[in-house]
Amino acid sequence: MTVLLDAETIQRRVRELALQIEREYPKDEEIHLVCVLKGGFVFMADLVRSMSARVSMDFIAVSSYGSGTKSSGEVRFQKDLDTSLENRNVIVVEDIVDTGLTLKYLQEILRSRAPKSLRTACLLSKPSRRKVEVVVEYIGFTIEDRFVVGYGLDYAERYRNLPHIAILQE
Ligand code: IMP
Ligand code: MG
Repeated sequence: MTVLLDAETIQRRVRELALQIEREYPKDEEIHLVCVLKGGFVFMADLVRSMSARVSMDFIAVSSYGSGTKSSGEVRFQKDLDTSLENRNVIVVEDIVDTGLTLKYLQEILRSRAPKSLRTACLLSKPSRRKVEVVVEYIGFTIEDRFVVGYGLDYAERYRNLPHIAILQE
């Protein structure tokens, strides 16, 4: 597999994002991070460890892909949040925004739960694949239309443990 982003490059960028996020929220307010499982778990873990602000976390699971490499456009809720979002500064933490269908759906649901603010952080973005417009305030890297794995991202549940991002050879 070809390495697209090595571990050090990712670490550096994630630290930058963490600092940027902290700068943009009032110092005395808690930031509530909502990780989208499973793909977002590595990004979330690194992001929060670079933050010194008061943070809380929750986890949500959706699936949109089955085991293939093409989005079905169908999003299923597999695990909901444990706590309310009401009046909290929420940041959705996701691995990648591809067609945008998953995030669009998620943002609508989460916004209906009356957070004080709602933003989204994605490690990766593939803008050329977008089917719906979706706002993502924090993007780690913009990449070409290639199927990538590692750093949380899988192909048929494999490769999530790679410390880098690699292009899956088809
Ligand atoms: P979207 O709804 O098309 O934006 O799909 C988003 C979801 O598809 C992500 O959360 C990933 O789980 C998955 N996905 C999209 N592109 C890739 C990829 O290149 N590698 C691994 N998973 C991907
Ligand atoms: Mg995902």
